[in-house]
Amino acid sequence: MRMTLSVIKADVGSIGGHTQPSAAMIATVREEVKAAMAKGLLIDGFVSHTGDDICITMSHEQGENDPDVHQFAWQSFLKATAVAAEAGLYGAGQDLLVDAPSGNLRGAGPAVAELTFDHNPVKTNKVRASESFCVFAADKCGPGAYNLPMFLAFADPMYCAGLMLPKLTKGFRFTIVDMDNTDGDSVIELNAPEDYYQLAALLRDNERFGISAIHARTYDGQPAASISTQRLHNIAGTYTGKDDPIALVRNQGIFPAPEEMLSPFAKAHFVGGDARGSHVMPLMPVALNTAVTGMYCLPLVSCVGFSLNGVGRFSEMHVDFFDNPAWDAVRLRAQEKGMEMRSQGWSGAAMLPYTELEYGGFRDTVEGLLKRFRFTPGKPKVEAKDGQ
Ligand code: 13P
Ligand code: MG
Ligand code: MG
Repeated sequence: MRMTLSVIKADVGSIGGHTQPSAAMIATVREEVKAAMAKGLLIDGFVSHTGDDICITMSHEQGENDPDVHQFAWQSFLKATAVAAEAGLYGAGQDLLVDAPSGNLRGAGPAVAELTFDHNPVKTNKVRASESFCVFAADKCGPGAYNLPMFLAFADPMYCAGLMLPKLTKGFRFTIVDMDNTDGDSVIELNAPEDYYQLAALLRDNERFGISAIHARTYDGQPAASISTQRLHNIAGTYTGKDDPIALVRNQGIFPAPEEMLSPFAKAHFVGGDARGSHVMPLMPVALNTAVTGMYCLPLVSCVGFSLNGVGRFSEMHVDFFDNPAWDAVRLRAQEKGMEMRSQGWSGAAMLPYTELEYGGFRDTVEGLLKRFRFTPGKPKVEAKDGQ
């Protein structure tokens, strides 16, 4: 069967500030998923949250960008918004940026990641004898948060030793989006390993360039990963909330194993985001359904893993990759890195540069002050020294 996995995530309201959605909101979305499965639109669905964002992971045969699947997610988020609004929660409907998207949800606010592939998980299938995948969801951070970890997992044998095996040694093709181009889709495809340095040259800029897809370079270009790359302020024209990207990644066999994909997250690398979407702080790996209550709303990332059976149902249990004492040491390091950065407050590298400052208000303050600068035309004269 031709299987599509769709992950759609949105912040539609949260309790006591931008912390986590309410149980009633989650229950509402779960009911919707149940009904969509009963109707046959979805084969399976799983609802979770990371910080204040509700994430719906779905399997179906409708293909990518399917209006029915996307509209289903939109309507579910609208119902959760109504629950949030009724309870007086913060930011009800925050990420639903357009009135009524006609077709698919790309560019409408919610984060979207989708993968489509032939699904025939039998022992004799040489490419995918079984299908396993994971979903990363990040809160309080910018769209390029996965650039470094995905690059390391899919291009660097220091992190993914599997790249040295015959079935992976041909490497992967990266599709990278220039998120500054708001008139349309501006993408480039680069191959690892040959374009390793060019990839690094683009991916170092997490605010402008983001990996949107990764494909195997053998096995008929099997899709490996799909990552939501969009900047909410480009859609809304102003700051409405942080981008909080999701990533859907197939694993094992011809793709990196979970540990090869997860180990780069042990860096707790610095990303743009955090308070008012305007700071530079470490990305902390957390268990699924974690609320944002920590110091200065540290950027968070969760990772849930599933297997898919022959008819596209999710394994009845999921694995919560970062919910393990092994990650406590990383969390501690993330806190320490965060406190170190916070100790310099607003100065220099602790906050995003002016061009990236997400919070319209910061820019307004600077704009207002720029108007008050006194300017004297003419360059200051430099007296030439005798004999020069
Ligand atoms: P969210 O996008 O998660 O609501 O974060 C917004 C923010 O500004 C944090 O201070
Ligand atoms: Mg929010
Ligand atoms: Mg959020």
